[in-house]
Amino acid sequence: MKVPLLDLKAQYATIKNEVFAAVAGVLESQVCIGGPKVAELEQKIAAISDCKYAVGVSSGTDALLCSLMALGIGAGNEVITTPFTFFATAGSIARTGATPVFVDIDLHSYNIDPVLIEQAITPRTRAILPVHLFGQMCDMDPIMDIANRHALYVIEDAAQSITATYKGRKAGSMGTVGCFSFFPSKNLGAAGDGGMIVTNDHDLSAKIALLRNHGAKPKYFHKYVGGNFRLDPIQAAVLLAKLPHLDRWSEARRRHAAYYDERFKGARPITPIIASDRISIYNQYVIRVDNREELIEHLRANNIGCEIYYPLSMHEQECFRNLGYQPNAHPRSSKAAREVLALPVYPELTADQLDFVASTVLAKTQARAPMVT
Ligand SMILES: Cc1ncc(COP(=O)(O)O)c(C=O)c1O
Repeated sequence: MKVPLLDLKAQYATIKNEVFAAVAGVLESQVCIGGPKVAELEQKIAAISDCKYAVGVSSGTDALLCSLMALGIGAGNEVITTPFTFFATAGSIARTGATPVFVDIDLHSYNIDPVLIEQAITPRTRAILPVHLFGQMCDMDPIMDIANRHALYVIEDAAQSITATYKGRKAGSMGTVGCFSFFPSKNLGAAGDGGMIVTNDHDLSAKIALLRNHGAKPKYFHKYVGGNFRLDPIQAAVLLAKLPHLDRWSEARRRHAAYYDERFKGARPITPIIASDRISIYNQYVIRVDNREELIEHLRANNIGCEIYYPLSMHEQECFRNLGYQPNAHPRSSKAAREVLALPVYPELTADQLDFVASTVLAKTQARAPMVT
């Protein structure tokens, strides 16, 4: 049996006709930039995120960059974020000329630890950029409280958490803006790159809409220096075809996660810990083990896909050496980077595949006592 980490062909097989028709519709219309498909997707993503406005952009990375630009963040500013994330989070901050300031994570959720945020605030801090990692939202109440007391913007990196909830509130709806990615491996993935920014602030959404198009209004008259951050209508059409399936897919991921949780109960791996006030969309099912190399080798020998998200904390990256962090500055993030391993959790997994993955993991880990979180 072969179990890839993600099987996009299996998903495509179930929706091929819808996707084909959607793409053909755009090609027939020859509306190649913007147009009704982008507008329809924006309206629908705003609705499922409980936000008033949404602006389609070219990727999750550009959603972050464009949001930071729209909020006027740049040289001389600091933005507080997590060191345990995909590079785009910290990279986007640095690209504006601002300084990413890393705050360690909580090892249960792998998300930024709100308790540590306040001590990182300086007169230069302009925003907090929490990342809802692996499908679970951050502990947003204390983050919003700190942001409000210090008059800071909150940019939610919800790239991995579209439709996830915190106390019934949707990812992307709590901060100043929320950023989504439609990278193909996300729960809602395009057939290429794509992203979206959601907000309840009308003026901000209007500024973002200009920035994604070189800041022009009207055409050839540039109010801001923006970029080409536009969402492609073919990608919007693909996403619209997939959108009606999103909740069912996320539900299947939750079922698979519950199955693994049950199988790994009392065994060595630390399974994902989802707070009782949150609903995760399990963009990844990430376990933590202290014999990771051995386990990876065993999984690969059994044709099971797995991946390390992420092997090196942001504060330890070569490109951020100038920031002056010691390798041990954020020990929980570094520990997570040494121990995490993502297992297949995609919706189309069969019962046999799930059983095979669980049994194969247990074969290399169950002789040991459970790890302590
Ligand atoms: C947490 C996080 N932030 C940002 C991004 C960037 O998104 P994209 O790949 O669409 O640029 C990703 C995904 O790749 C991500 O996982």
